Amino acid sequence: MTTAQTTELDVQPSPLALLLLGREADPKSERGVECPGDLPSPSDPDLVERARAAKEKLGDKVFVLGHHYQRDEVIQFADVTGDSFKLAKDAAARPEAEYIVFCGVHFMAESADILTSDDQKVVLPDLAAGCSMADMATAEQVAECWDVLTEAGIAEQVVPVSYMNSSADIKAFTGRHGGTICTSSNAQRALEWAFAQGEKVLFLPDQHLGRNTAVRDMGLSLEDCVLYNPHKPNGGLTAEQLRDAKMILWRGHCSVHGRFSLESVEDVRARIPGVNVLVHPECRHEVVAAADYVGSTEYIIKALEAAPAGSKWAIGTELNLVRRLANRFAPEGKEIVFLDKTVCFCSTMNRIDLPHLVWTLESLAEGKLVNRIEVDRETEKFAKLALERMLALP
Ligand code: 13P
Ligand code: SF4
Repeated sequence: MTTAQTTELDVQPSPLALLLLGREADPKSERGVECPGDLPSPSDPDLVERARAAKEKLGDKVFVLGHHYQRDEVIQFADVTGDSFKLAKDAAARPEAEYIVFCGVHFMAESADILTSDDQKVVLPDLAAGCSMADMATAEQVAECWDVLTEAGIAEQVVPVSYMNSSADIKAFTGRHGGTICTSSNAQRALEWAFAQGEKVLFLPDQHLGRNTAVRDMGLSLEDCVLYNPHKPNGGLTAEQLRDAKMILWRGHCSVHGRFSLESVEDVRARIPGVNVLVHPECRHEVVAAADYVGSTEYIIKALEAAPAGSKWAIGTELNLVRRLANRFAPEGKEIVFLDKTVCFCSTMNRIDLPHLVWTLESLAEGKLVNRIEVDRETEKFAKLALERMLALP
């Protein structure tokens, strides 16, 4: 479990989790934690200059990480950008930075805290930047699931593989039970590793990444996969179904990538003849099956960098990234459109904006540590084990 601390300013945990308004505090959840300070006004014309000045004052003491889904106004201040795998490695490779400012979401900041030394402080500019998918698997639910697997007599054959998009508690569960973490760029390698350790995989919490990797990349069938629903008794599965399955998929998903449908793919192919459809593996299986290319955010960027002039692309991932790529590659004659016709930002990624970044950097520059994300030692020990297994994957 994580504690989100703000020194000098007293934030009391509240039982309420209010994601949309971002008020009140709920450090146990990915969602709904208020900003404890006075944010600058979004209309302040000096915000860019203020961020630049505060960052310059902090010098090498601060290292700013930016996930690809962050807004342009934030990404311009990132020392490195990347997908969740790259950022986890980048955070671990900066032992000299006292502050790691993570422009991303809560689970990424937790992972950075786990992978950095005890005297480095990881800071999330807005504590309400959570992830609804990560919230779909709680420690209690996963412990109950393990009891169900034990009852069915299969727990010893099961290796947990948890997507990076999960809380530190779930990562610790994974480490304790001999499993590994994966990201969308190494899910296949993680599953190959897991199937070498045991006969079955419990894949948490993104059913789509689990199913897509198992079926599309590893040749398992849809019948090899079962869906464990934490809201139903015994996950909604019989002991026989669990015993017959190779992949036990947790019933979680990304609300952003879940919006893309087979119709979006068919539509864009009809609208733009010759278009290449490139989607993130968090999309539903039928979308991934109908796409031409599938990969993580880093993969998507590299594919577009390598694309020939005149090529056409429809991208199924978060809109900040797609818009940035469309602008970046337009001068090279690459036509890039968003796969869905409706706007699709990740609302929690979007919570980190320039006012929050300015407030964070100026606070740190004044010696005030705000919005620290700190994972407790016991959780950290086992979560680290699972993350290190991932980092050691061939
Ligand atoms: P990647 O950056 O690993 O592709 O993950 C996408 C995502 O949804 C992060 O929350
Ligand atoms: Fe979570 Fe989806 Fe947003 Fe990624 S894009 S942070 S998985 S809700």
